[in-house]
Amino acid sequence: MNDMPNGSVTITLEGTNKSIRAPLVQATVGPPVADIRKLYSDLGIFTFDPGFGMTAACESKITYIDGDQGILLYRGYPIEQLAESSDFIEVSYLLLHGELPTAAQLEEFKKGVTMHTMVHEQIRRFYDGFRRDAHPMAVLCGVVGALSAFYHDTLDITDERQREIAAFRLIAKVPTLAAMAYKYSIGQPFVYPRNDLSYAENFLYMLNAVPAEEYKVNPILAKAMDRILVLHADHEQNASTSTVRLAGSTGANPYACIAAGIAALWGPAHGGANEAVLKMLGEIGKPENIPAFISQVKDKNAHTKLMGFGHRVYKNFDPRAKIMKETCHEVLAELGIKDEPLLDMAMEMERIALSDDYFISRKLYPNVDFYSGIILKAMGIPTSMFTVLFAVARTVGWVSQWKEMIEDPSQRIGRPRQVYTGATSRDYREVAARG
Ligand code: CMC
Repeated sequence: MNDMPNGSVTITLEGTNKSIRAPLVQATVGPPVADIRKLYSDLGIFTFDPGFGMTAACESKITYIDGDQGILLYRGYPIEQLAESSDFIEVSYLLLHGELPTAAQLEEFKKGVTMHTMVHEQIRRFYDGFRRDAHPMAVLCGVVGALSAFYHDTLDITDERQREIAAFRLIAKVPTLAAMAYKYSIGQPFVYPRNDLSYAENFLYMLNAVPAEEYKVNPILAKAMDRILVLHADHEQNASTSTVRLAGSTGANPYACIAAGIAALWGPAHGGANEAVLKMLGEIGKPENIPAFISQVKDKNAHTKLMGFGHRVYKNFDPRAKIMKETCHEVLAELGIKDEPLLDMAMEMERIALSDDYFISRKLYPNVDFYSGIILKAMGIPTSMFTVLFAVARTVGWVSQWKEMIEDPSQRIGRPRQVYTGATSRDYREVAARG
C-alpha cells in the first residue's frame, strides 16, 4: 500500500506572488499524482511533457506497473500467477469486470465470447479488395474499423448492454478476422471458427486448418499461445491504449476505437517490435556479428536500436520478458527443437548487452518482444503475423480500458495542449508580392 502522505504540491511562479496548491491524488499502489488542473486558470501556464512520461491522463483500476521493481498486476493479480495458473478467457473476464469469475460466471462469459466468433459473410468480401501481399496488420486495421458498418445495434455507447455486446464481439471476432487476413495472404480458404475449442486452440485452428484434411491442434502449442495471449492482454496506458482512449473520448464507436489502437500498435517502437526483433536477428546472421551490431546500436549517428530492448516504464526488468524466455525454452524443448540458432543468438545478444555500460547506464533490459518472436516462429507462425497476434491479445485490454473510460463520470474529451513555437501573427501577401 502507498505510504506517501496526503497533501499537496505548491507551485510558485517565480518573480510573481502567484502560486497554486496542487492536491496530491493518492494511488492505491504507486506514487501519488499532483492534480494540476487549475494550473492554467490560476497561473496562466501549461506543463510541457512530450511523450507524456510524467502525465497521468486518467484514473484506472485495471493494470498496475512498477517499472523499478518489474511488477505487473492485472486487477491486483501478479502476471506470474496469472500466466502460470489462469487462462486467457478468465483473464479477459478479470480485466473487463475487475474480479475473477465464479464457475458460473466463467461459463456464461465463455458462452458470450464463443457465440460471437463468426463474422458477417459480407465481411469476407472486404478481403478481396486488398492485395495478397498486404501486411496483415494493414488488413486487420481496415476490417476491424469496418465492423462499425456491420453491427449498428452496438454503436450507442451510452447503452450498457450495447457496450457489453460490442466487447464480446470484438474479443470474439478479432481472432477470426486476424486468421482470415493470414489465410488471404497465403491464398488459402478462410476457416470458420470452431466453438468447441478454447480461445487459443480456435485461433491456431483458424490459422492452420485447411478443408482438405483434418487438423488437430497441438496442445503444447495451444498452451503456449494461451500464455502469450495472457502476457499481452493489457499494459495500462501505453501508446495504443492511450490512442483507444483518446479516440473513445470523442464518443467514437468501439470498433473505430479498436481500429485506432491497432494502427498505433503496428509501429516498431510498440507492438511491431516482435517482428522487428526477428528481422534484426536475421540480419545479424551469426553470433560473431553481434559485437559489431552492438557497436552500431551505441553509435548515435547509426540510428539503430536493439529491438526488443528498453521500455518507457520498466527500468529494471520486464516481468513478461522473464516468463516469455522461460516459455521459449519450454516450447522449444516440448517441440523437440534442440538447437535453435535464433534463440542462441538472442541469449548471446542479451548477455553482451547486459554487461555493456551503454545498456546498464540507460537501464535497458529485454522487453516482452525480445523472446516472443522466437517462440512464435517455432510454433510455425509467420513473422508478419506476430504483431497481429499482439493485437488479438490486446483487444481485451483496449476494450476494458475503453469501457472503464466511458463509465467514468469525470470523462472528458482528450485534448492535450502544446508549446507553440511557430510564426507570430502576420499578414497574408499576394503571390506577386512575395520575394
Ligand atoms: N536500443 C538502443 N538504445 C536505446 C534503446 C534500444 N532498444 N531503447 C532506448 N535506448 C536509448 C535511447 O537512445 C536513449 O539514449 P540517450 O539517453 O543516449 O539519448 C535512452 O536509451 C533512453 O531511451 P528513450 O528513447 O528516452 O526511451 P523511451 O522511453 O522514449 O522509449 C522504447 C522506449 C520502448 C520506445 C525504446 O526503448 C525502443 O525504441 N525500444 C526498441 C523497440 C521495442 O523493443 N519496443 C517494444 C516495447 S515493449 C512492448 C510494447 O510496448 O509494445
